[in-house]
Amino acid sequence: MTGAGRDGRRGPLVAIDGPAGSGKTTVSRALAARLAVDRLDTGAMYRAVTWLALAHKVDLADGAALGRLARDGHFEIGERVVADGTDITAAIRSPDVSAGVSVVAAHPEVRSALVERQRRWVEDRGGAVVEGRDIGSVVLPDADVKVYLDATPEERARRRSDEQADGLARRDALDRSRAASPLTVAEGARVVDTTGRTVDDIVEEIVGWLTTSA
Ligand code: DC
Repeated sequence: MTGAGRDGRRGPLVAIDGPAGSGKTTVSRALAARLAVDRLDTGAMYRAVTWLALAHKVDLADGAALGRLARDGHFEIGERVVADGTDITAAIRSPDVSAGVSVVAAHPEVRSALVERQRRWVEDRGGAVVEGRDIGSVVLPDADVKVYLDATPEERARRRSDEQADGLARRDALDRSRAASPLTVAEGARVVDTTGRTVDDIVEEIVGWLTTSA
């Protein structure tokens, strides 16, 4: 599981997918700390591109222009999110960005540019915990463990209390119904309902799967 694995990897590679409010961020943070690997929030990348598009007044229907922003835009995703030299960690959670991000994420040009950046990020590190919507299905189909987190609609709305429930439902519907890499349970993914469960309990369950898959 650790040390140089196949294709010279240095640590475990875990894909975490699921809808908004399913617990991806909390679980992937705790899991990355437990495994001592980096974590990538790919949703923050789609949000950063949306923020850049709004800042540069790029039409959210213009897939080609948005694809260029996704490919060449200056943004870095870590514990802080920085774009064009500005700290946009809080700004990417604003109602404007939340309202536009599903539209931006539906463009195939945006997705292919970001998937390439995501794979490069993983290659630079070896093991990692990567969270998003299409990680197990498209970005890292050969991850050591693929997890699909879910929770009841009430629980998901409560966790995303910063976002209006109708906005959240609209975003989920767009993410599930788009033609390019819709949110789906990847082949071979383990489905976990996080409702009423502790983070530690879920993390230990995933670590257990990693041990058996090694
Ligand atoms: O995880 P999040 O709610 O911050 O993600 C924001 C949006 O980005 C979400 O509505 C769908 C999109 N997204 C995506 O299409 N693919 C990913 N791998 C991650 C996020």
